[in-house]
Amino acid sequence: MPELAYLNGEILPIEKACVSIEDRGYQFGDAVYEFIASYNGKLFCLDEHLDRLERSMQGLSMPTIPREDIRSAVMSLFEKAGIARAGIYMQISRGVSPRNHPFPESAKPQFVMTIRPVEEKPPELRQTGATAITVEDLRWGRCDLKTVQLLPNVLAKQMAQEAGAFDAIFVSQESVVREATSSNLFIVVDGRLVTHPLTPQILPGITRTVVIDLSRTIDLAVEERFFSVDDLFNAEEAFLTGTVTEVLPIVTIDGNRIGNGSVGPVTLRLYSALRQRAGA
Ligand code: PDD
Repeated sequence: MPELAYLNGEILPIEKACVSIEDRGYQFGDAVYEFIASYNGKLFCLDEHLDRLERSMQGLSMPTIPREDIRSAVMSLFEKAGIARAGIYMQISRGVSPRNHPFPESAKPQFVMTIRPVEEKPPELRQTGATAITVEDLRWGRCDLKTVQLLPNVLAKQMAQEAGAFDAIFVSQESVVREATSSNLFIVVDGRLVTHPLTPQILPGITRTVVIDLSRTIDLAVEERFFSVDDLFNAEEAFLTGTVTEVLPIVTIDGNRIGNGSVGPVTLRLYSALRQRAGA
């Protein structure tokens, strides 16, 4: 089960894969990324991730790379590594060029990936639920594009860890609850699921879409609407969704117990429905 890297067409050990110090991803955060997981040797929602990657690249006016080229690169790395439960990180930067703010005229996009076994969340976290803090959302106005500019996310996650919490939830100055540092957020209100609508202020999570779809199949109403910190604290349940977090219960936020402080039935049901859909 080798951990491998992909670098512009070549597959090699991760420690051997290097990019130039003049890569625009490194100097300007001028790059987009995706993280895709596999279950039992099959990549989950590969097409949806490739759609979003394409959308992010278009959003930054990057030159297009034929989808089939991207797909076959992903598949060649996945097959070569032979990791059944793998996490593939892929990143495409605008290219390498002497540092200058405008787009370079002739830089070639740099396409890199790594593949490793997925680090599963501890089972206790899923059984007893996680804690979170709220933080002010200091991110830019295009959080719907999956760019590598993640410093506010990094700082917020670090703040959460230093506070002994699992994650941080971004809240706007007007008290609108957005999402967590690398997951979307759902709450349960009067037995209905509520989550932030798709706007430039959140990432259109692939797991978010799957969870909404699963909810409809089990007759669970879903409302995509704005909600406040008060709504969050008064919710019956809260959970995160993401490729790595899957469906992860949040039972305490800023010291406030959510619902009765234990993992709720809707969260449990959606977690097992997601795992089943993914072929876990
Ligand atoms: N993060 N919101 C943010 C800000 C994210 O970074 C992510 C994913 C999500 C969930 O999206 P999805 O369901 O498509 O994984 C929501 C990835 C996993 C990461 O940064 O590693």
